[in-house]
Amino acid sequence: MQEFKDKVAVITGGASGIGLGMSRAFAQRGMKLVIADLDSQALEAAVTEFTTAGVPVIGHACDVSDLQAVQALADKTMQHYGAVHVLCNNAGVGIPTSARNMKLEDWKWIIDVDLWGPIYGVKVFLPLIEAQGEGHINSTSSMAGLLSSGMMGAYNVAKHGVVALMAALERELRAKKSPVTASVLCPGPINTNISRHSVEFRPSRAKPKADGDKAGKMASNIQASLEAGMDPDEVGEMVARAIEDEKFWVLTHPWWAKGVQKQLDALMQDQTLTRI
Ligand SMILES: NC(=O)c1ccc[n+]([C@@H]2O[C@H](COP(=O)([O-])OP(=O)(O)OC[C@H]3O[C@@H](n4cnc5c(N)ncnc54)[C@H](O)[C@@H]3O)[C@@H](O)[C@H]2O)c1
Repeated sequence: MQEFKDKVAVITGGASGIGLGMSRAFAQRGMKLVIADLDSQALEAAVTEFTTAGVPVIGHACDVSDLQAVQALADKTMQHYGAVHVLCNNAGVGIPTSARNMKLEDWKWIIDVDLWGPIYGVKVFLPLIEAQGEGHINSTSSMAGLLSSGMMGAYNVAKHGVVALMAALERELRAKKSPVTASVLCPGPINTNISRHSVEFRPSRAKPKADGDKAGKMASNIQASLEAGMDPDEVGEMVARAIEDEKFWVLTHPWWAKGVQKQLDALMQDQTLTRI
């Protein structure tokens, strides 16, 4: 997709962090926005920001893990603008816990939001975007979609699934010569509110006991690396540019992919699992 002006972009988790960065990058290119988010206060603030700047925008409170809610988002988009060209499946959550101790409720929550959210997005929006004769679907995975560190099992599972979903989709679209293209965003550490939002939205409040200090330490390390991380507006720009340049992979910290190479080398040499 080359020309963005006056086209319609739907961004899930678009009221904060990376999603807000994408919304800003699309607004700068003259797009009309639909911002979907679970956090209604952040949603209101984002809508005010764009309305004040004269950008056409609607906000929609929506839980991406609910198929009917994603369908309602598409219906509202079509009713308001009559078209949709770009979908960013970006809403996501994550908490560090061992595979042994993570509650099933938390496994389900993370996979529902981080993987079923993008699956529902593709299912509901792809036919609508294809009907426009041009468009794009981007989903936010993570470096956790390419590498599996300990204590992040559920997040790794969901984010690996997002990479697999988008790679299969892009190959199918090319085979069919579809006018729609697809890409996947795999960020490294980005300075956002993901830790706070994940604690706030987590359905199960009780801490898993057996991980003890380990999970707490991991959470503080993650928080420190997020705070030292990249500005989310920069990531939004990278995604918009990748759509313009028809790139599939959007890596904010491409040198981290060396870990993927190391694992492939070990797989070929002695079939051991590398430490990351
Ligand atoms: N921040 C990082 O370092 C980092 C790294 C890799 C990947 N990611 C991914 O980037 C994406 C965006 O996260 P972020 O870091 O900008 O965090 P963020 O919390 O600042 O933004 C995520 C937004 O998603 C919304 N959200 C959460 N659950 C939702 C649901 N069920 N339905 C709709 N909206 C929901 C939140 O309210 C929030 O506004 C996520 O998919 C995350 O996994 C982030």
